[in-house]
Amino acid sequence: MIALFIGRFQPFHEGHLDAIKQIKADKIIIGIGSSQYKGTKDNPYSFVERKKIIETMLGKNNQYQIMAIPDIHNNLRWVQHVKKIVGNFDIVFTGNKLTEKLFKEKGYQVRKTKIKVKISGTAIRDEANRLFEYLQKTCYSYEDCLKIAPLTLEINQLKKKQNAIILAHSYQTPDIMYGVADYLGDSYSLSKIAKTSKAKKIIFCSVYFMGETAKILNPKKEVLVPTLAGCSLADSITPAQVRKLKKKYPGRPVVCYINTTAKVKAESDICCTSGNALKVINSLPQDEIIFLPDILMGKNLQKLTSKKIILWNGTCIVHEKFNAHSILQVKKQFPNAKILAHTECNPNIVDFADLAGSTNDLLNFVDKTESKDIMLITECGLSDRVRVEHPDKNIIGTCNLCPYMKKITLQDILIALKNPRKNQIVKLDKKIITKAKKSLDKMLLL
Ligand code: 13P
Ligand code: SF4
Repeated sequence: MIALFIGRFQPFHEGHLDAIKQIKADKIIIGIGSSQYKGTKDNPYSFVERKKIIETMLGKNNQYQIMAIPDIHNNLRWVQHVKKIVGNFDIVFTGNKLTEKLFKEKGYQVRKTKIKVKISGTAIRDEANRLFEYLQKTCYSYEDCLKIAPLTLEINQLKKKQNAIILAHSYQTPDIMYGVADYLGDSYSLSKIAKTSKAKKIIFCSVYFMGETAKILNPKKEVLVPTLAGCSLADSITPAQVRKLKKKYPGRPVVCYINTTAKVKAESDICCTSGNALKVINSLPQDEIIFLPDILMGKNLQKLTSKKIILWNGTCIVHEKFNAHSILQVKKQFPNAKILAHTECNPNIVDFADLAGSTNDLLNFVDKTESKDIMLITECGLSDRVRVEHPDKNIIGTCNLCPYMKKITLQDILIALKNPRKNQIVKLDKKIITKAKKSLDKMLLL
C-alpha cells in the first residue's frame, strides 16, 4: 500500500514526525506543501531545508520519499495537480481540513493522524541554531544539534516550571554543558552555588559524591543526579577503613578530599578540594595529618608543606593514566605551549607543569594567559570548554575521558525532571548529613 502524507511542515512540528511514524504502509510519500515559500515569518524554510530536517529526524529510510508540492491556489485542480507530481497512492493522511475535503470529494480515502507531540518546528530550528553556535566548536554537526534540540527544549521548559537549576561539572559532555546547564564549574564552585541557590530543586550533573555534597549543604532541597555514577577515588575508601586509620594514627586529623562519599566525609575532620587542599592542611595545628583518598594528590601536597602527610592508596583512573614522557615529547614540538595539569596527576607531571590545580584553576589560567598553545592534562570536558569559550586557543596533545562523568545523558536529565527514578533522588541519613556538614563547613569557613 502506498500512503500519501500531506503537510506544510511550516512551521515544522515534532507532531508531523509522530504522525508519519504511525502510518503503516509499504511506501510513504511525504508531500511538502507550499514549498515555494521561504523567507516570510510564517514560512521561514525552503523545501530543501525542510526535507533535510525530516530526513535527519526520521533517520535515513527507503520507505519514505519526500516530495515538494507547490501551491497552485486552485481548489478545483488541486488533487489532479498533486497526482501529477507524486504518481499513484492508495490512501491520504493529513491534518489539514481543506486538503481532507478536496481529496474526499475526489473519492479518496482520507485519514487523520492523531498528533501527540507539540513542539513547533520553528522552536526546534531556533534551538538547534543556538546549540550549534556552541557545539560546532567541539565535535557536533548541525544535524546532531537538530536531533538534540527537542530534548534540550523540553528540559529547559521543565526546569523553569519546576524552579530547578542544573549544575554541570566541567567534565560533562558539551550538549549538557551548553544545552541545559545553568552553571558550569568544578566540584568546589558548584557546591558553593548549590549552597546559595534559591532554586527548589537541584539537578547535579556529575558523579554521585557531588550530588551528596549538594544535599549535605541543602538538606531541605530536592537534589537529583541524572545517573548513579561512581568515582574511582570516592569508591577507594569506606567509613570503616577511615575509622581503622584513625585508630592506627591517633591524634592526627583526617583531611578528606571532596571526592569521597558522604559517609567518609562524616568520619573526617575537615574536607578540602583540589583548589584549597594546601590551605586546609596548613590551617591545622597538628604536624602530622591523614590525607585521603588520593595518593598522588597527597604526594603533590607533601612537596609543598612541612607537615607529614599520611596517605591512602586511592587514585583517579583518569589522571593517573597521563604519561610524563609523552607529554614532554609533545612539548618538544610545541615549545611555547603551557602545560596545565590537575593535581590528581602524578607528581612527575605536576613537577614540570606551568600550573597544577583544580578544574577551575586551570580554566582561570586559560582566561588570563596570552599563550595560544595550551596542553590540558585532565579530563576531555575541560578541553571542550576551552574550545567553546576560548576559540582563539590551540589545544595541544590529548586528554582522557572519565567513564563515570560521561555516563550522564540528556535523556537521564529529562527523566530526573519528569518522573525521577528512585536512584536519581539523593537521600542521606540525617546523622550523616550533620556530621559530614561539619567537615564541609570548616572548609567553607576557611
Ligand atoms: P575538581 O575539584 O577540579 O572539580 O575535580 C573533581 C574531579 O573529579 C577531578 O577529577
Ligand atoms: Fe573520579 Fe577521576 Fe572521574 Fe574525577 S575524573 S570523577 S576523580 S574518576
